[in-house]
Amino acid sequence: MTSILQRIRQRLQGQPPSEPLDPEGASGVALRGHRGYVGGHWEEIGQLQFNFLCDQGLRPEHILLDIACGSLRLGVKAIPYLDKGHYLGIEKERSLIEAGLEQELGQELRLAKAPIILEDRWFRFERFGVEVDMAIAQSLFTHLPPKQIELCLSQLRPVLKASATLYATFHEVPEERRNPDRPHDHGFFAYTRDQMEAFGEHQGYAVSYIGNWGHPRGQVMVAYQPFP
Ligand SMILES: C[S@@+](CC[C@H](N)C(=O)[O-])C[C@H]1O[C@@H](n2cnc3c(N)ncnc32)[C@H](O)[C@@H]1O
Repeated sequence: MTSILQRIRQRLQGQPPSEPLDPEGASGVALRGHRGYVGGHWEEIGQLQFNFLCDQGLRPEHILLDIACGSLRLGVKAIPYLDKGHYLGIEKERSLIEAGLEQELGQELRLAKAPIILEDRWFRFERFGVEVDMAIAQSLFTHLPPKQIELCLSQLRPVLKASATLYATFHEVPEERRNPDRPHDHGFFAYTRDQMEAFGEHQGYAVSYIGNWGHPRGQVMVAYQPFP
């Protein structure tokens, strides 16, 4: 059986995966479980994201948008910390949202903190009807082709406050590589720093490379801030 690290190494080298990918959607969640589907390392990556956002200045009164929030790996840390109604999540897989709310967050915190979570695959952030202070896309652009990344960034731009920042992770490669044509939750997409900067600049952002932020699988971080 090929290990996750072997698969990452193969794909960084531009080789096709040696085994077919697991299914996406509800059947994939049933197969891997709601923690496994989003990549495992549940406690570690949840805490890593939360600590990172706090280090960037996240405060309870801020409105945080968790793009591709999955089964609330970050949400279970951020929702108790934020003021009521200040956690916004968007996610395409209903079964992940349900597992996150029911099995991870629990009824008491759900009632007390009223997180707002939308099932949506087209990044229609305007549906929230509010502007956000901070956004994160953790391990999303690692599964998307360029068109989808640019769609996400363009839809986000109008709902960001002037002072807001999106933090996004990606697999960094030194040279442009051929990624799959279609998004896939278990597919592997990697970009150069220049590509990540260009995606943002095309959509009206100033882009700053952060790099290593302690991710156990080596994903690096980039920050997008709206141009005035
Ligand atoms: C690796 S998981 C990461 C989830 C979460 N950010 C975390 O750190 O736990 C990637 C997530 O992106 C979601 N996703 C992929 N494409 C999406 C899209 N177009 N709109 C919303 N969610 C999407 C997947 O369903 C999955 O939950």
